[in-house]
Amino acid sequence: MIDCCIFDLDGVIVDTAKYHFLAWKRLADQLDIVFTEENNELLKGVSRVESLNIILRLADKTLTEEERVSCLERKNTWYLEYIHRLDRSEILPGVEKLITEIRGRGIKIALGSASKNAVIILQQLKLMDMFDVIVDGTQVSQAKPDPEVFLNAAKDVDIDPQKCLVFEDAVAGVEAALNAGMYVIGIGSEETLHQANFVLQDLQNQTLDQLIERL
Ligand code: BG6
Ligand code: MG
Repeated sequence: MIDCCIFDLDGVIVDTAKYHFLAWKRLADQLDIVFTEENNELLKGVSRVESLNIILRLADKTLTEEERVSCLERKNTWYLEYIHRLDRSEILPGVEKLITEIRGRGIKIALGSASKNAVIILQQLKLMDMFDVIVDGTQVSQAKPDPEVFLNAAKDVDIDPQKCLVFEDAVAGVEAALNAGMYVIGIGSEETLHQANFVLQDLQNQTLDQLIERL
């Protein structure tokens, strides 16, 4: 029934939201915009450009195109300072074990992420070899909830979308998976991700058979 598992990166494999927050906060401070951890929730699964739009909207602020480009560059430089210090201790509980089990059963593993920094993050975590296919923010034109990222992953491994299972922590990502006609397990809170087939707090102590049984 499942021939390919597609993992989102940020919030499913590694908790990078705190580093995105620190970098966006630094930018917001420079722009004199109040930006809280609660506001940061709005940015989960959202592209870098749209994240900046959301932050600017919080303060009804507009910038020239040149200023916007400079803001995006600054934010990413600061974010990458954290990412360069990332290591395997930050892989979220249960993920690596589950991916290893899935691979062992000959089921394809893909990454479906909005991040343009996905490869460097997987390199820092030494997880590159785990993936048959990586589709990230450098390869898609439509952001989640558009299904493009997941459909491209399915196409690259040559598996029917109906036989793909997505792991997602963001509402936009759950919607993208459903829009792709795939199964989706939400990682996080039931309240936020209720559209998913079912929701887990994390992937600790989960086996593929247990997960498939609940779909
Ligand atoms: C998503 C994150 O995975 O990637 C978002 O959940 C982030 O918060 C987006 O904005 C883009 O990431 P990056 O690394 O290209 O800035
Ligand atoms: Mg995510």
